[in-house]
Amino acid sequence: MHCPEQYIKDNGIQRRNARYISNIYIEKMVWKSNEIVLDLGCGPGDVTSDILYPFLKNKINQLVGVDKSIEMVEFAKKTYGCSEMDFKVLDIENAHDCSFHSHRFNKIFSFFCFHWVQNKVDSLLNMHLMLKSGGEILVNFLLIDPLAELYECMDTEWQIYIKDIKQRYSRFTIHHSRDEIKDIFTKAGFRVINIESSVKKYTFPDFSSFLSTIKPVDVMYSILPQHLHDRYSMHVKDTICERQIMVQICPITGETIMAYLPITVHAVKD
Ligand SMILES: C[S@@+](CC[C@H](N)C(=O)[O-])C[C@H]1O[C@@H](n2cnc3c(N)ncnc32)[C@H](O)[C@@H]1O
Repeated sequence: MHCPEQYIKDNGIQRRNARYISNIYIEKMVWKSNEIVLDLGCGPGDVTSDILYPFLKNKINQLVGVDKSIEMVEFAKKTYGCSEMDFKVLDIENAHDCSFHSHRFNKIFSFFCFHWVQNKVDSLLNMHLMLKSGGEILVNFLLIDPLAELYECMDTEWQIYIKDIKQRYSRFTIHHSRDEIKDIFTKAGFRVINIESSVKKYTFPDFSSFLSTIKPVDVMYSILPQHLHDRYSMHVKDTICERQIMVQICPITGETIMAYLPITVHAVKD
């Protein structure tokens, strides 16, 4: 993901999700004075700054947003960086990068990122290493990637690229159950306090807002040659409408409803 300006224009679903989760879980956590908090996979930083920070500002010393995308971090730093909020490039799968932050954080939050992560056990081991003893993590992500359904339905012309994507990103092929997710966290040394997942719905005002939301997270654009981008966009639009997948579109108002399956894991490092 590398287009912060595009992503931030239509990320109402991500913002609503982070607000909902923060509202429920932050008050259930144990807070001490002067905590340092990490937001993993912060993207362009608006969720870190506009949603997470207001919940935390009276409790913490510093909030650090990290992301593996240099473009995202540069945008976040330029737009939201201040003495209480810093942004850095960090790949949670990279043990060497993470070892620089050993035992640094009291809490780790992560919204809509972990389904992008290939090696989940190693990444959780890295989070475990970066947390102080007694520290808590709140990891919220998609159990099933909605784009996987779209890729299955695309014409053969695009399947060669989709094959490539599936080889690079396990999130389009491997579906974990809730119990498997719990096991992965436990294996990495966490004690799971709570795990919840249920189907949620989000209503977009029209079909084009929905398309603008999925475009920046559709990794096809990062592997397709530029001259195919417009044709691919058209095919995405037609496929979703014709096959009636991912969304339900109201024929009268145009309102577009997407169902999705997030999972939230709240765990502690004893
Ligand atoms: C859909 S965005 C979510 C952004 C923000 N948390 C939100 O809720 O709007 C997912 C972000 O995770 C980042 N990401 C994916 N894999 C990562 C990894 N291994 N380490 C750190 N960040 C990663 C991507 O670069 C992307 O910016």
